Amino acid sequence: MPHAPIDPQSIDQAAALIRAGKLCAFATETVYGLGADATSSDAVLAIYETKGRPRFNPLICHCADMDMARTYARFSELAEKIAARFWPGPLTLVLPLVPGAGLSDIVTAGLETVALRIPGHADARALIAEVGVPVAAPSANPSGKLSPTTAEHVRKAFGGRVPVLDGGPCESGLESTILSLEGDTVTQLRAGVLPRSDVEAFLGLALQVADHEAAITAPGMLKSHYAPNAALRLNADSPRPGEAYLAFGAEPHGTTGPTLNLSPDGDLHEAARNLFSYLARLDAEGANGIAVAPIPHHGLGEAINDRLDRAAAPRS
Ligand code: TXA
Ligand code: MG
Repeated sequence: MPHAPIDPQSIDQAAALIRAGKLCAFATETVYGLGADATSSDAVLAIYETKGRPRFNPLICHCADMDMARTYARFSELAEKIAARFWPGPLTLVLPLVPGAGLSDIVTAGLETVALRIPGHADARALIAEVGVPVAAPSANPSGKLSPTTAEHVRKAFGGRVPVLDGGPCESGLESTILSLEGDTVTQLRAGVLPRSDVEAFLGLALQVADHEAAITAPGMLKSHYAPNAALRLNADSPRPGEAYLAFGAEPHGTTGPTLNLSPDGDLHEAARNLFSYLARLDAEGANGIAVAPIPHHGLGEAINDRLDRAAAPRS
């Protein structure tokens, strides 16, 4: 058993690790990312190995600013417009790759497109700027498990084998929304923190929504994903005996088992922020099942319900 790595105490130290081809987890406004130099195939391979992630799933490359983003992807007028409005922020754009710009072809899984994001967390942008090239970072959890929203989640998930730059608890607590742009067509590949309705209102058009059953172009689209150990029962108005309960809004009377409330006031932002960490906490109670209250589908509710559906899906 290799001994635990020493966590970096500053952005400089974390950047030095990544520049040296090592992994380092860091906070973004969505979830913690498991970061590596996106131009180094060896570094990117270490992400796949550490996560136990199927090789065919490409990774998001995080950029510090538009100059860096434009070096690696071609921005149409529409892409520029969307980026100007929503970056930095919880949005990932899948765009045509600039060939020969230097990204590892493992990070794009050999596709002619690349998924880019400029994160909203200022420390994350400072880290990437210090690294000087895009930082590949999937969520910092073993493949298929709950996404981490604190440094402590990352340490636990990997048994202390991954250094973590502690950037505090994540503000949003759910992954970014992923849009792919082809010509004038905008398709939502993954629901996320940025509500589809916000993008539609800004563009004045309806987005296409990728079919979950269609060919997997995003692993966040795998049916069973984000899974706790306990079985989930969704849209439950109250827990059954022996179940833990994940409430939202007003709580049913007389629940006796472990209960956490995503948002007593029924606030979807608060619920998104708490979702993965509360599932992890209830899971840690060792309940066989977790009953989950109904969550409204509007706004951020689309992404919350998407994650819950996957967490509840039959495991393969
Ligand atoms: O909030 C987030 O997006 C977090 C934080 C760390 O930034 N990152 C994250 O990355 O969730 P990851 O690797 O777990 O999810 C990347 C998603 C996957 O669903 C992947 O299939 C999709 O992006 N993706 C990457 N490149 C793609 C491409 N060229 N075409 C289509 N989908 C792509
Ligand atoms: Mg993930």
